[in-house]
Amino acid sequence: MRPIRKAVFPVAGLGTRFLPATKAVPKEMLPVVDRPLIQHVVDEAREAGIEHFIFVTGRNKGVIEDHFDRQFELEHALTERQRQTDLALLARDLPGPGTASFTRQQLPLGLGHAVWCARELVGREPFALLLPDVLVQHRPGCLAQMIEAARHIERPNIIAVEQVPSDRVHMYGVIGIGERNGSLFAVTEMVEKPARERAPSNLIITGRYILQPEIFDVLAQEKRGAGGEIQITDAMIELSKTQPFYALEFEGRSFDCGSKVGFLAANVAYALAREDIAPAMRAELRRLLDEG
Ligand code: G1P
Repeated sequence: MRPIRKAVFPVAGLGTRFLPATKAVPKEMLPVVDRPLIQHVVDEAREAGIEHFIFVTGRNKGVIEDHFDRQFELEHALTERQRQTDLALLARDLPGPGTASFTRQQLPLGLGHAVWCARELVGREPFALLLPDVLVQHRPGCLAQMIEAARHIERPNIIAVEQVPSDRVHMYGVIGIGERNGSLFAVTEMVEKPARERAPSNLIITGRYILQPEIFDVLAQEKRGAGGEIQITDAMIELSKTQPFYALEFEGRSFDCGSKVGFLAANVAYALAREDIAPAMRAELRRLLDEG
């Protein structure tokens, strides 16, 4: 497989499910413990060896760009106060000069359209796509697991999948699987947000993809699908007629941070995984549950 050097992060969504929190703050900047959602997802990509981070933004998303830039006043103040640890943490999280790119999705035409907006920045090479609504808590991260699983496949398209109860399949892209190849399954079917009785399985698409650049040629046709939007799942269905698609049932717990409960659960789980706050957090949770 050609190395996966670039990752696309679609961050143009309005985040209406989190209003009023997302009125002035993009949902991708909401914190999970003390890191914005988008930072967690960028961490996962970087850990998987990604070298270039491509953000597809929209109106009112300027602070995402600021977040991935240096902040001179802050650095100056921290230097004066000799806060070396904080300075080192900020430096560690920052993408290197020239390794973060931003482009705008000018109209909200769907996830597929957002991905297509990154075509010039990606070029003609395979790339990773990470939806920042989804966090996967595991080391190695979900994308690293996908890259490892596909090492020996020539030109793979890979989707991370997981099982959910069948009363939840209608909220996601759902796949059908065929033969197993190592830890990967051949994808035989994909459908975006199917009614429960039309779902080919209860394996849902979790928001991590490795895609070949021909996906852009399909997306360029601008076909509308579920909800009248240009869907990445529909483009994958089209591409799967000429290229193989694989599914990886990854290790780790996922959190759908596009929903309030998923987002809150992620905060609790990530806090419990942090040595510095886990004991106090555990005590606080026990107290709340006892009182509840
Ligand atoms: C998108 C994809 C869907 C996938 C989901 C994962 O849907 O279209 O296939 O299962 O992300 O979160 P959205 O959440 O944007 O409606």
